[in-house]
Amino acid sequence: MANAAKEGARGSANDVYALETGDAGAARLRLLDGVYGPETRRMLVEGGLCTGSRALDLACGIGAVSCWMAGQVGADGRVVAADVNPDQLVVAKWHCSRCQDHEPIEYVEASAYDTGFPSGSFDLVHMRFLLCHLVEPAKVLAEAYRLLRPGGALVCQDLHMSSIYCFPASEAYARMIEHALAGGRALGVDYNYGLRLPAAAADAGFSRVEVRLNQPAYLRGEEKRLWEHTFAEAAPSIVRTGVVTQEALDALLVEMSEAAADERVMIAQACSPGVIAWK
Ligand SMILES: C[S@@+](CC[C@H](N)C(=O)[O-])C[C@H]1O[C@@H](n2cnc3c(N)ncnc32)[C@H](O)[C@@H]1O
Repeated sequence: MANAAKEGARGSANDVYALETGDAGAARLRLLDGVYGPETRRMLVEGGLCTGSRALDLACGIGAVSCWMAGQVGADGRVVAADVNPDQLVVAKWHCSRCQDHEPIEYVEASAYDTGFPSGSFDLVHMRFLLCHLVEPAKVLAEAYRLLRPGGALVCQDLHMSSIYCFPASEAYARMIEHALAGGRALGVDYNYGLRLPAAAADAGFSRVEVRLNQPAYLRGEEKRLWEHTFAEAAPSIVRTGVVTQEALDALLVEMSEAAADERVMIAQACSPGVIAWK
């Protein structure tokens, strides 16, 4: 499915978002929230999200976290769900309309580089798995800092792709990770950006930065296949960079699927380094 960011028309002119948006990407983002969501919610509470908070879910995707945030802040709070891709916002509105237990969310089409919101207008800014897709992530950290009031918190989780593993080991996972990282380099992004996040948050000016690592692992269930699905979705974008052929990736995906079907095989999902950073 074509999307605006893939054509470089939105966000930064240089960014290429390698994954699907809208309906085509919704099931994978729901799965992603099943894997990483419990830690996200713990971090949001630790970052101070509570009744009355004014909070921004930046690059909200299908709004899986936005709805939960809206339930936490209640009628006296405010939750804005922003994404650069309008088709994500369509799915987010539909998804959040089905959760009955929260106050209305404001949906805004905006680039994380330049959101247009006034400085200091939020108590908390949340971003998950955004910065690894960006050519200039430091600019977005600076924007998050600008949006927070003094004492407000950034809650941000990102990706350490090299940490994905399979035991007993599967060569397919190792090779797929190499191809994806090479594709990312060709696009000017770093799918291991999570490792840089704590230092980058300090560089952005945050006065206190706490780090959290989260690496769920599975023996069975659809969650075990999250990264298999992610690589399958990203494959056309990786192939377009010229680092590998679709046929080679398809062969690796078959091996990854076989590993997932074997309940003796543990698959550790990508570790997600995260920060809670106070302004
Ligand atoms: C991997 S998804 C994560 C979505 C959501 N944060 C989550 O964890 O479920 C990345 C999201 O970033 C959005 N995105 C990419 N570039 C962006 C930009 N420059 N500004 C705002 N959103 C952007 C994409 O449209 C997509 O919804």
